[in-house]
Amino acid sequence: MTTPRIHVLALSGSLRAASANTRLLKIAAELAPAGMSVELYEGLGDLPHFNPDLDGDDPPAAVRRFRERLQAADGVLVCTPEYANGVPGMLKNAMDWVVSSGEFYEKPTCTISASPLAIGARTAHDSLLLTLGMMTAKRVDGGSLTIPLVNKKLSAEGGLTDDATEAELRRLLEALAAACGS
Ligand SMILES: Cc1cc2nc3c(=O)[nH]c(=O)nc-3n(C[C@H](O)[C@H](O)[C@H](O)COP(=O)(O)O)c2cc1C
Repeated sequence: MTTPRIHVLALSGSLRAASANTRLLKIAAELAPAGMSVELYEGLGDLPHFNPDLDGDDPPAAVRRFRERLQAADGVLVCTPEYANGVPGMLKNAMDWVVSSGEFYEKPTCTISASPLAIGARTAHDSLLLTLGMMTAKRVDGGSLTIPLVNKKLSAEGGLTDDATEAELRRLLEALAAACGS
């Protein structure tokens, strides 16, 4: 067995227990190429509402934990749904906490959006990319994937049933591994 040398932190834009986006990140962990581990970060819902007044020398513990896990990661994989044509507030809140502290600076970052609708949460995805660009995250060639009609591509047990999506996910993970290794 290969010991993972590339560690990726996975961020889901959904807090739902039965989230398709979180499920996709767990599938990504299973499909990760040899040498790469994908860890789902479970603490996004614990972050307080972003307030610059709280972001002094002693930020909230949940914020410190999030920043430490990002710092320790070689790369980041974000998978998000869309709410009302935007990035879910919880995910945008998490991003706001790391604008000034700079954890995304040149961090290889791949993005996935998934929605039960045919548009595949593209508006939220584009907005997320703008935010990551502002934070100077490292864009990965082939590192963005939009998954429309996601409910038709996951089984009741949560497995991926669409071969084309699985192939796209594998390609994205390979691209992330290459970007983290370079
Ligand atoms: C209040 C609300 C607003 C939504 N707005 C959008 C939207 O603008 N675009 C879209 O593609 N899906 C929208 N959806 C559908 C979500 O994408 C869907 O609930 C999705 O499954 C959530 O992702 P999850 O399964 O990972 O929790 C909305 C859902 C809710 C409850």
